[in-house]
Amino acid sequence: MAFKQRVFSGVQPTGNLHLGNYLGAIVKFVALQEHYDCIYCVVDLHAITVPIDVWGGPEELRRNTREVTAAFIASGIDPNKHIVFNQSQVAHHAELAWVFNCVARLGWLNRMTQFKEKAGKDREAASIGLYDYPVLMAADILAYRATHVPVGEDQKQHLELTRDIAQKFNNDFSESIRARGFGEAFFPLTEPIIQGPATRVMSLRDGTKKMSKSDASDNSRINLTDDADAIAQKIRRAKTDPEPLPGEEAGLEHRPEADNLVGIYAALADKPKAAVLQEFGGGQFSTFKTALADLSVARLSPIAAEMKRLTQDTAYIDSVLAGGAARAEVLAAETMNAVKDILGLVRR
Ligand code: TYM
Repeated sequence: MAFKQRVFSGVQPTGNLHLGNYLGAIVKFVALQEHYDCIYCVVDLHAITVPIDVWGGPEELRRNTREVTAAFIASGIDPNKHIVFNQSQVAHHAELAWVFNCVARLGWLNRMTQFKEKAGKDREAASIGLYDYPVLMAADILAYRATHVPVGEDQKQHLELTRDIAQKFNNDFSESIRARGFGEAFFPLTEPIIQGPATRVMSLRDGTKKMSKSDASDNSRINLTDDADAIAQKIRRAKTDPEPLPGEEAGLEHRPEADNLVGIYAALADKPKAAVLQEFGGGQFSTFKTALADLSVARLSPIAAEMKRLTQDTAYIDSVLAGGAARAEVLAAETMNAVKDILGLVRR
């Protein structure tokens, strides 16, 4: 059966939205609006899977949820044409996650590398929510039977799990799915969209580590809320090696910091890395860094300013989230009702 083409993606409201989130995800969200119906979600239920001191408590969660929403809108997502909302306002995500808990296998979850990284050494002390995180993520996507999910490279394994869950549900209940008139498959096998030069933006202090919200060093990342001076300073201080930039992409091998900065430039300029090297290859790093700082400030400062303006208008942000949630709920309820019928859960 052909599924209606639909895009879904989510961002956690855990503070410090950074250039990696922007280039790896949000820029793609904006571009996909042209061709698809899109649903963009602030995944607050995922944020609370880590200890409270990490997500910051109730006030921080509210603030960060509104800030991510503001970042979406400031970056160019249109909440009137598409759907923007926070996850906890649509109860079907958690409800479908329960069903998927009964579909997903322990062995599958035991292989999730992000759980191992986030849980650290003391795995016994991790929350069950952290372990179950990828199942809730599958529910987010499949509550809308989304066909395409734009994400950074680090989410690839979670999207494979989403496909495994969809496939097992489709197989386990194939007879009931057919009997209900849904054809061969109820859930689509969602395609990840992981493309371009910035699917994995690395730390500015260490080219072998991912740029992350939780890195203790603020100099490791460019935050979407950074002002022009902070952006320029962080790029000037970014770690590099002593060699000049190579003329060709092959020359970036084993030079993680150079590779990262060229990737960032390419993504911001919307050019391939090869084109960036053609322009800057053979030149000094300092010249390239100045150009990169200028480009970053030109692209990011207007977003920071608009985010600031929007976050002050809480009533507007909350109305976007409420309106989006109401529209999302209609779609998710339709899926959930069908799932209940397929499973044999008696409903009103
Ligand atoms: P989160 O909030 O950690 O990150 C949001 C998005 O940013 C991408 N990203 C990066 N891309 C490139 N370079 C980086 N250094 C970098 N860091 C983060 C992430 O890949 C992501 O696309 N599990 C998700 C949230 C989620 C979700 C979903 C996503 C919940 N449900 C359903 C898609 C569909 C996450 O932790 O995102």
